[in-house]
Amino acid sequence: MKKLKGKNCLITGAAYGIGRQLAFQLAKEGMNLFLSDIVMDKLEEVKEEIEKMGNKVFICKCDVSKFDEMQHLADEFFREYEDLDLLINNAGTAGGGFIEAIEINEWKKVFDVNFWSIVYAIKIFLPKMLKRGSGHFVSTGSGAGIVGLPVHPHYVASKFAVVGLTEALYSELYNSGINFSVICPIRVNTNIGMTSPITIDPSLLTEKDPEEIKNKFQTFREIWWEGYVAMGIEPDYAAKRYIKGIKKNKLYIFDKRRLRLAMFIKAVGLKHVYKAVLKKLSEEDISAIEKALVESGLSTREHLLKTLGNRMM
Ligand SMILES: NC(=O)c1ccc[n+]([C@@H]2O[C@H](COP(=O)([O-])OP(=O)(O)OC[C@H]3O[C@@H](n4cnc5c(N)ncnc54)[C@H](O)[C@@H]3O)[C@@H](O)[C@H]2O)c1
Repeated sequence: MKKLKGKNCLITGAAYGIGRQLAFQLAKEGMNLFLSDIVMDKLEEVKEEIEKMGNKVFICKCDVSKFDEMQHLADEFFREYEDLDLLINNAGTAGGGFIEAIEINEWKKVFDVNFWSIVYAIKIFLPKMLKRGSGHFVSTGSGAGIVGLPVHPHYVASKFAVVGLTEALYSELYNSGINFSVICPIRVNTNIGMTSPITIDPSLLTEKDPEEIKNKFQTFREIWWEGYVAMGIEPDYAAKRYIKGIKKNKLYIFDKRRLRLAMFIKAVGLKHVYKAVLKKLSEEDISAIEKALVESGLSTREHLLKTLGNRMM
């Protein structure tokens, strides 16, 4: 989608982070906007800012994990605008923890928000785009949808599904007049790491007082997330990169070169190199959790060595 000015765009999850920045920057490009989220006071603030810029903007509450709410969002959108030119399925949730501690309901919750929301968008918005033979359907995957990182298994699986689904859409519909893109962020300094659930098995902790665990858990979380985004990028810069990718109709939109490299290594079948990449990421991510658990006072290195065994370096 080369020209954005005067076109209509719907963004989910626009109250915070990447979605919010995409909204501001697409407003600067002259787009008419329709924004949704579950946090309405924050979304209202985004709307006010955009109105000051002189753009047309509407908002609607929508939990993307619920089909009925997505249908309602579509009804509200098409009441205001005739056509949908750019849909950005951005809303997402993360979640972390060692694989055996994550409960089935957490797997389901992550898939409901990250994966099923895209299926609902395919059912609800895509038919109108197909009928018109134009539009751009964008979903937000992740670097974790390209490379299987440790300690976020449900998140990784949901984002691999989003990436796969986008390829499936592209391969079936590349001649339909519709563009398909998947944005694959890594390490963008947003709220997601502080708001998504993290599960740590109590047997990994040396701290036993429930009140202390609660207090120290917040510190643990901050240390872990700050370490993760320390080498990351800010959401306004990330959004600029993503819009550039949308304008070029890229299938994959990356914000870091190393994802392109990881895809290349997989595509040419350098299996040993790829396994080495996975092991390196595992070392980095598991030692980041270990550091946060020890520095927050929730556990000790000796205890983690005993309980996590060969997962620790
Ligand atoms: N920040 C990163 O490093 C990073 C990395 C990879 C992928 N992503 C992806 O980017 C997208 C945006 O994330 P972000 O980093 O801006 O996080 P964020 O938490 O700052 O923003 C996510 C937005 O989605 C909304 N949201 C959450 N659950 C929702 C639901 N059920 N229905 C509707 N809205 C909901 C939140 O209220 C929030 O406004 C997500 O899909 C995320 O998985 C982010």
